[in-house]
Amino acid sequence: MYRYGIIEEREGISLNKKRIFIGITGASGTIYGVRLLRALKTAGHEVHLVVSRWGAETLKYEMGIDAEALADEVDKVYSEDELTAGPASGSFHLDAVVVIPCSMKTLAGIAHGYADNLIARAADCALKERRKLIIVPREMPLNLIHIQNMEKVTSAGAIVIPASPAFWHLPKTIEDLVDSVIDRILSHISSHRESAAVWTGE
Ligand SMILES: Cc1cc2nc3c(=O)[nH]c(=O)nc-3n(C[C@H](O)[C@H](O)[C@H](O)COP(=O)(O)O)c2cc1C
Repeated sequence: MYRYGIIEEREGISLNKKRIFIGITGASGTIYGVRLLRALKTAGHEVHLVVSRWGAETLKYEMGIDAEALADEVDKVYSEDELTAGPASGSFHLDAVVVIPCSMKTLAGIAHGYADNLIARAADCALKERRKLIIVPREMPLNLIHIQNMEKVTSAGAIVIPASPAFWHLPKTIEDLVDSVIDRILSHISSHRESAAVWTGE
């Protein structure tokens, strides 16, 4: 058995306001990033967003959305090159950094401390400040380098939540599928929150 609820309805009553950084990179599945930022905004959180150059290309191709249009939906938007921005410093408080979807290139950068843009730098800061870093990789099949990089970031304290939706909640739409991943991410951002879809074992 499972319980299923609309993330947006549940979030409105369950979380304290947090400041979340979202990095959307050029992996397939930009819908994950967009659904996450909308769920966080609906819940009243402060969202800081970077869409990488290839993230913007993929967003346009997959969703027909210009990255600039997302600026109206979040609190602050930066370019990937804005390494003078707040999130480039560990002194700038963020409750969580989420890279969603995360390309294998950005994963490699984070795994090796190669912080050449604001997404990789914000992730690097989250690790050094021992803050929550959630990485949502999307690639298939995986080579050994990808797997080792996931091991590296996990050893350093990140939580790897693959863009690998569940089917046991009987999704009817693509949004239902995507939200099964978003739901798990929201639960990790707020540890006291129960998932919208919970397997009860009954
Ligand atoms: C349509 C499209 C889909 C892509 N899908 C993936 C993917 O699923 N995973 C991945 O690692 N890279 C994917 N790539 C390649 C990345 O965009 C590329 O490695 C890029 O350098 C990533 O840069 P970024 O991480 O700075 O966004 C895709 C590229 C395009 C154009």
